[in-house]
Amino acid sequence: MTVNRRILLSARPDGLVTEACLERVEEPVPQIGDGEVLVRVLCLSVDPTNRVWMREEDSYLPAIELGAVVRAAGLGEVVESRREGFGSGDLVMGLPGWQDYWKLTADDMGQVVPPGIAVEDLLSIYGATGVTAYFGLLEIGKPQPGETVVVSGAAGGVGSVAGQIARIKEAGRVIGIAGTDEKCRWVVEDLGFDACINYKTEDVATRLRELCPDGIDVYFDNVGGEILDAVLLQINIGARIVMCGAISEYTRAESAGLKNYKELIMQRGRMEGFIILDYVDRFIEAIMELAPWVAEGRIKYAVEVVDGLEHAPDALNRLFTGDHAGKLIVRVAAPSA
Ligand SMILES: NC(=O)c1ccc[n+]([C@@H]2O[C@H](COP(=O)([O-])OP(=O)(O)OC[C@H]3O[C@@H](n4cnc5c(N)ncnc54)[C@H](OP(=O)(O)O)[C@@H]3O)[C@@H](O)[C@H]2O)c1
Repeated sequence: MTVNRRILLSARPDGLVTEACLERVEEPVPQIGDGEVLVRVLCLSVDPTNRVWMREEDSYLPAIELGAVVRAAGLGEVVESRREGFGSGDLVMGLPGWQDYWKLTADDMGQVVPPGIAVEDLLSIYGATGVTAYFGLLEIGKPQPGETVVVSGAAGGVGSVAGQIARIKEAGRVIGIAGTDEKCRWVVEDLGFDACINYKTEDVATRLRELCPDGIDVYFDNVGGEILDAVLLQINIGARIVMCGAISEYTRAESAGLKNYKELIMQRGRMEGFIILDYVDRFIEAIMELAPWVAEGRIKYAVEVVDGLEHAPDALNRLFTGDHAGKLIVRVAAPSA
């Protein structure tokens, strides 16, 4: 291939991402200089945070500049290297963005990953998704045997794994919250949650009262907004709320706000946010513990692969409509070997 297809951000979206916010261009494959690496992108991780980075304001990373390629995590294969430690054919993980070829400069995040692990697994259970569930739940949620753990976004990439880790750590009850009956069935019947609330058809506060008779000790929050507010009403003394994500807020111009935050005072509870990039040095620790759980069938996960870079914007929107199963990945190209 001699052409580099790139999808640039041309305007800030209001709600879902539309073509009006994007410019699709074809450029020559970039030339590299000393200290740089040319990577052919194989797969892109579709993450809610892609949409966060499109907003005007900076987050834990700067906002994507207008005219720049849409930032996204992913994985590719080295085609040419002028940097020590990167050889032709190596698999590299980092932030390639929505394009066919990624010029990895000294300023870019990117590291060689060991061969032998499926690309889909590297971007899901053994990538930021599984590892986020692991550190968020265990470092911040710290579930104790017998406690009640509630997980929102329960059928998603992070939430599905977080709930299963809670089960492994002998939580007394694990309750999911998800957006369809089918997702709720999967979470209960295949993943072993005790119950799952369909937040689109059921009253979350009422159902939480019924399903968590002893109150909530740990809430792994992927969605924020009204669901977080409903959970706050049911927390126990010393509850830990893991602020992993707030997808219900990412496409809103104005925050929904919280009405029930004072419950944190009454119950001496704690809400703590985290960003998985802060745990990069400890990824291997999480992977070493997740791998046997996966091998023993104690953690199951779903990956949906969408073929074609051109579908990246639609794939991103599906995270916000909920129209996907588990971790969503875009396959850009096949590996050469
Ligand atoms: N802190 C970190 O470092 C970190 C790292 C990775 C991910 N995250 C966060 O973790 C969360 C999950 O990420 P993921 O990659 O695993 O995505 P995901 O859960 O696989 O996909 C997002 C899901 O969110 C649900 N959703 C969408 N809009 C919603 C709304 N308004 N209210 C309630 N639920 C809604 C949808 O499921 P339903 O059908 O159930 O609605 C959708 O499938 C996100 O908030 C993400 O930003 C944080």
